[in-house]
Amino acid sequence: MKSFPLKYSRVETEDGSYTLFSEAFGEACHSTAGAKSETILHYLKGCAVEEKAQAQTALSILEVGFGLGVGLLTTWEHLHSLPAEVHFLSLEIDRELVLWFLEEHKTHPLLQNIEVREKTVEGKLRNFSFTILIGDARRELPEYVSRRKIIWEAIYQDAFSPRRNPVLWTRQWFELLKMHSSENVILSTYSASSSIRKSLVEAGWKLYPGEKFGPKRTSTRARLTGETDKDILDALARSPVKAITDEELLT
Ligand SMILES: C[S@@+](CC[C@H](N)C(=O)[O-])C[C@H]1O[C@@H](n2cnc3c(N)ncnc32)[C@H](O)[C@@H]1O
Repeated sequence: MKSFPLKYSRVETEDGSYTLFSEAFGEACHSTAGAKSETILHYLKGCAVEEKAQAQTALSILEVGFGLGVGLLTTWEHLHSLPAEVHFLSLEIDRELVLWFLEEHKTHPLLQNIEVREKTVEGKLRNFSFTILIGDARRELPEYVSRRKIIWEAIYQDAFSPRRNPVLWTRQWFELLKMHSSENVILSTYSASSSIRKSLVEAGWKLYPGEKFGPKRTSTRARLTGETDKDILDALARSPVKAITDEELLT
């Protein structure tokens, strides 16, 4: 059995967990300071999913970028014994990577009752269910949400960097996420770049600073209520960079 999928190489990270470096995108899926600790800090804590799963009867989470499944497995570890019914939807363009994940973790309790189809992998263990939607998220997600009533309370925005993976950071992308979010949603991401912050603000999200991790000094959290942090607004006003938009990517 291969120890990592084709077109990827395994990278050990400082907390003892590993990540994958994608040749196609020229980037690793996580910070080398720690794949698992970054996931816990930016996504589980960043989106307050444990508090939400304690306080609510149901919790719907979206992950943008399934990668090697650290977000899914870590979320299951932290939430499966809490009261809420959790649904975790994750988006992944690379079907081979998803199939590699299923093989790599085939003895994991969460993966004992799964259905693998062409465009989805679905699984459920007691109160925790998940769907991996396979294909280009820009095409697949609008179609998927148009056929279902979905309201996210937590969004892990974990695409590759805006420079390498701009289609998942545009104003229009964040407008789509906003349309299917609860008013209590928290969107969290490792990126603090002015371009993605402008995309979020133009799409109607309110921003506040996130935690630092590894060499990055800050990150971004976004909500649909309240007001954007004043220091962030001032910095964006001074920055000459523009929001990322679908129109700009087409030209
Ligand atoms: C940074 S990694 C995600 C890491 C993941 N959250 C984890 O915990 O392992 C980003 C992922 O987004 C996927 N991706 C990139 N562009 C995509 C697109 N247009 N649609 C869906 N997935 C995409 C990449 O293949 C990659 O696996």
